[in-house]
Amino acid sequence: MAQTVAARPPTPVIHQTRLLINNEWVDPVEGGTFETYNPATGEVIAEVAAGNAADIDRAVKAARRALESGPWSTMNAADRGRLLYELAGLVERNAEELAALESLNGGKTIGDARGDLQWVANTLRYYAGWADKIEGRTIPVRGDFLSYTLRQPVGVVGQIIPWNFPLLMLAWKWGPALSCGNTVVMKPAEQTPLSALRMGELAIEAGFPAGVINLINGFGETAGAALVAHPDVDKIAFTGHVDTAKIIQRQAAETLKRATFELGGKSPNVIFADADLDDAVTGAFHAIYFHGGQCCTAGSRLFVEQKVHDVFVERLVDKARARRLGDPLDPSTEQGPQVSREQMDKILHYVDLGKAQGAKLLTGGDRVGDRGFFVEPTIFDDVKDHMAIARDEIFGPVVSVLPFQKVEEVIERANNTSYGLAAAIWTKDIDKAHLFARKVKAGTVWVNCYNVVDANTPFGGFKMSGQGRENGEAALEHYTELKTVTVKLNG
Ligand code: NAI
Ligand code: MG
Repeated sequence: MAQTVAARPPTPVIHQTRLLINNEWVDPVEGGTFETYNPATGEVIAEVAAGNAADIDRAVKAARRALESGPWSTMNAADRGRLLYELAGLVERNAEELAALESLNGGKTIGDARGDLQWVANTLRYYAGWADKIEGRTIPVRGDFLSYTLRQPVGVVGQIIPWNFPLLMLAWKWGPALSCGNTVVMKPAEQTPLSALRMGELAIEAGFPAGVINLINGFGETAGAALVAHPDVDKIAFTGHVDTAKIIQRQAAETLKRATFELGGKSPNVIFADADLDDAVTGAFHAIYFHGGQCCTAGSRLFVEQKVHDVFVERLVDKARARRLGDPLDPSTEQGPQVSREQMDKILHYVDLGKAQGAKLLTGGDRVGDRGFFVEPTIFDDVKDHMAIARDEIFGPVVSVLPFQKVEEVIERANNTSYGLAAAIWTKDIDKAHLFARKVKAGTVWVNCYNVVDANTPFGGFKMSGQGRENGEAALEHYTELKTVTVKLNG
C-alpha cells in the first residue's frame, strides 16, 4: 500500500526580527544584529536583533510592572487559563507555518517539526487547565489560630532555552510559568531565534497583557548572563549544557535566585536477549537518531546482551545505512543537518576520539557533502565504558554499542556516569524490568519504548542532568512560592 506523504510546506515568511518588550517590537538600545542561518545550506535567513544587558533591564522592568500592577496582577486564575487555551488554539491554526520555520532555522525534519507543534499545543493546554486548580491548604495548628497556605507566583522569571526543540522548550517554560501567574523574560537560543518571535506575535494576538511575555534574542554570554545576574529576576529556568548550568548557578548565587536546570545526558538503552528484537531494533534506532541525536534523552549508550549482540548490531547497521539524509523541508527526508558548524565539528571530533581510543567504527563517521552540516548516522561497536564516546554527551547521530552479560552488571554500568536524565530497558521479563526501573538513577525510565514524553509526566534529571522537574504537576512547585498565613481567632 502506498504511503501518503504530507506535502512540503510553503517557505515561511519572516515577519519579525526585533525584541519583544511590553508587547512592543523594539530595536536594541545599543543597536546590533546577528545573522541566523539555514543549517541545511549554511545560507543566512535573516538578521535578528541582538539584545544586551540594557535590553534585558528594560524587559525585566516591563515584566515587573506587569506582575505588580495592570491587568495580569489582578486577573483571576480561570482567565489566565483562557489566555493559554487561546494561545494553544493559535498554535494549532498556525502549526504549518511554525513547523516550517522550525525546520528552516533548526534543520529539524518537517515531520518531526509537525510532531513538535502538536506537542507544543498539548503542553499549553495542559497548563491552561491547571491555572484555576493551584490550591493551598488549611492546616490544623495548636492554639486558636487559622493557618492556611497560598501558592503565589515566584515573580519575574528568566527563561533560557536551547536550539534543539525551540518551540517545545518555549512551551515547557511558558506553560507552567504563566499558569502560575508569573511574568516572563525569555532568551531563545542564538541558533534558532525565529520561531519564538512568531510565538511572540501569537501571544499578543491571544491577548496576553503588555509585559507578561518578553523576548530578548541574543547571545548567552551577553543577554543570557545579564538575565541571570539581574537583581530583579526571581528565578531562572534553563535548558542546555551542564557547563553553562554551572556558570549560571554560580552567578545566580549572587542574588540567591531560584534556579531549575534541565541538562544533558548519556542515557543507557539496555537490550536484553529476551526482548522483542524487532521492536528493540526500531526503538534503539529511534532513540539515538531522532532529530539527528540532538536530543537530551538520546539513547547514546546502547547496552546489548552478548547473546544477541551480533544479529542486533547487524540490523542496526542496515537501518543506519538506509537512512535518508537531506533537505529537512522535504517530507521524505528522515534526517536533516546538525544545527550548526560548531555542533557538526564537535560530533566529528568525537568520531576521531572513538577511533583513536580503539572503538570499532561499523558505519558512518563522516560529514555528508560540503553544503550544510550533515553527519552520517554512526555506529561504534566494542566500546569500553571509559572511552570518551561512552562518557561525554556528543549530541549527534553517534551511538556507542556496549556488550554485556548480566542484569546486575548492566545496572552498575548504566549508573556509572555523572548524568541521569533517562534510561530504557527492552525485555519481556517483568522482574528484570522492574528491578532496572527501581535501580537505575534517571529521571525517566522507559520499558519497551523510548522517548515517550508527555506534557503530563514529570521530566528532569538525577545527578548532573539537572535540578527540578518540568511537565506535569511537578513543574508548578518550581513556579510558585508557598506562603503560610496565620490568623488569630477570637473565639
Ligand atoms: P548552551 O548551554 O551554551 O546554550 C543553551 C542556552 O544557554 C542558549 O540560549 C545560550 O545562549 C545560553 N547561554 C550560553 N551561555 C550562557 C551564559 N553564560 N549565561 C546565560 N545563558 C547562556 O549550549 P550550546 O552551546 O548551544 O550547545 C553545546 C552543547 O550543550 C551541545 O552539544 C549539547 O551537548 C548540550 N545541549 C544540551 C541540550 C539539552 O537539551 N539538554 C540542548 C542544547 C545543548
Ligand atoms: Mg554554548
